[in-house]
Amino acid sequence: TDQSKIRNFSIIAHIDHGKSTLSDRLIEQCHAVTERQMESQLLDNMDLEKERGITIKARAVRLEYQAQDGETYHLNLIDTPGHVDFNYEVSRSLAACEGAVLVVDSTQGVEAQTLANTYLALEHDLEILPVFNKIDLPAANPQKAKEEVEAIIGLPAMEAPEISAKMGVNIPAVLEDIVQNVPAPTGDPNAPLKALVFDSQYDPYVGVIVYFRVMEGTLKKGMNVKMMASGASYQVLDCGYLRPLGMDSCPELTAGEVGWFTASIKNVKDTRVGDTITGVESPAAEALPGYRPAQAMVYCGIYTQDGSKYPDLRDALEKLQLNDASLSFEPESSIALGFGFRCGFLGMLHMEIIQERLEREFDLDLVTTLPSVIYEVDKTDGTTVKVDNPHNYPDPGLITEAREPYAKVSIIAPPDYVGNIMPMCQDRRGIFKDMQYLDTNLVELHYSMPLGEIIYDFFDALKARTKGYASLDYELEGYQPSQLVKVDLLLNGDQVDALSFIAHKDKAYGRARKICEKLKENIPRQLFEVPIQAAIGGKIIARETVKAMRKDVLAKCYGGDITRKKKLLEKQKEGKKKMRSLGTVQMPTEAFMAVLKLD
Ligand code: GTP
Repeated sequence: TDQSKIRNFSIIAHIDHGKSTLSDRLIEQCHAVTERQMESQLLDNMDLEKERGITIKARAVRLEYQAQDGETYHLNLIDTPGHVDFNYEVSRSLAACEGAVLVVDSTQGVEAQTLANTYLALEHDLEILPVFNKIDLPAANPQKAKEEVEAIIGLPAMEAPEISAKMGVNIPAVLEDIVQNVPAPTGDPNAPLKALVFDSQYDPYVGVIVYFRVMEGTLKKGMNVKMMASGASYQVLDCGYLRPLGMDSCPELTAGEVGWFTASIKNVKDTRVGDTITGVESPAAEALPGYRPAQAMVYCGIYTQDGSKYPDLRDALEKLQLNDASLSFEPESSIALGFGFRCGFLGMLHMEIIQERLEREFDLDLVTTLPSVIYEVDKTDGTTVKVDNPHNYPDPGLITEAREPYAKVSIIAPPDYVGNIMPMCQDRRGIFKDMQYLDTNLVELHYSMPLGEIIYDFFDALKARTKGYASLDYELEGYQPSQLVKVDLLLNGDQVDALSFIAHKDKAYGRARKICEKLKENIPRQLFEVPIQAAIGGKIIARETVKAMRKDVLAKCYGGDITRKKKLLEKQKEGKKKMRSLGTVQMPTEAFMAVLKLD
């Protein structure tokens, strides 16, 4: 394809400003088919999908647009995810584009993520085209929204399209804007191949589908290619473009183009986002910049409530991993919870998504342990161990030095919020590095902060303290010595391994107290008094007590009718099933989860 006729762009917006609706309209507008045709095509395609079992997640789509200048342009619309856990994926998607359409709701104006997303796009030197949406609403004030964009973001906006994505008003103006203002890609089609992987997806029939943008050179069907970071090489079996209604095959993709290839690849691990595809015969001298190996930041134990479902859990994790290179897991066992897996995640949201998918798609009832980062411990015998499970933390007497991971943190926010942000970073043991003005309306703060303080709820807390205006990015920096302690929880004198945690000594006491209180609230009264204790080494640092039950459940039934008694017993049995026996103490699984969901 003629490079000058290609436009690669993504759409960015604050949540609910109309990103998805506008994408649909752009696709429809370029489709040049009647609705009836579109419907039947869509159905055909779905049948095909079913037949081959192909699942297309439209992370990129190629549109043909006949512009007012009479020329046909190829527009590649690349989608981006939207959470700090997936910042890296977003950055690679943006690196595959030359421009971004910034959707602004004319009834709302500039909002938090309008700013955060614009900043991300600017970091990748993208041409940003604002469009003002929802002009069909009576409350719409595109003029005011434009003034805000000019004043706050500093982008010229007065000439920008005013549209209604919902009603399909003025959509061609957006397409014209893209054609005229997003730069065409450059790159020599005859140079050695360099293509950027921005997504990949496992399909049970064709193997991994790799989504990429060719930066230089040409990728051809039948060609031997090599992933420069993972080192894996493959012969391209098929390649092509992504269509709104499926996948088109084509013999080659040249510099500037966006597409997919397949090569019977078994696992997305070999085709990581950010990797560079090059040719085996004449490889590129160096890879594209910015590759970052997926790195698990948070670990937790995952168990099934019903121990016999352990093999199902393993199968489910294996299936999810085929499609998710950042998920890692290995078997572990717990005295309290039985057999399960230690799983690694990019962050807390990633962890929640995986847990949710395991429960929904694989119908598993899970129990998870408190999340943890990886600590490094030098022992008196001269060895160093990595600890991702508090249970394996060495005895304090055997430790010469303990280290915890630190992250390089960058926070971007309007200057007004700096006063809220700094104390909260300090409270999380952040070490202030520097602060710089990006322009008059944005400052960037740099901190070095323990990863363990970031992963729990830092992102949410930051959003809350800045009305959502701050954006966060972090990257592992290295390990630093730290005064760590392992806190054990004891119920009725028995240690519950799944509740142990590692913390900085200044934070351990507060956290231990909270857990003890939560346990007290959630453990039903037993026939005997249950002491709840938190201990560091042999020293008790917090204690609560669950009082003994006063009455026999059946007491009130004596002399009563038999069905009522039966019902009660039945109820009790049901309750029992859901109880988890922690040593001598019975505890409902929900209570266990409530404690683990602490923070
Ligand atoms: P997320 O995917 O949640 O980030 O939202 P989004 O930015 O993709 O917004 P989406 O396209 O889902 O639109 C959000 C809501 O706004 C939906 O209820 C749309 O129907 C509505 N909406 C989008 N465009 C318009 C418009 O032009 N006019 C009106 N009245 N409503 C619109």
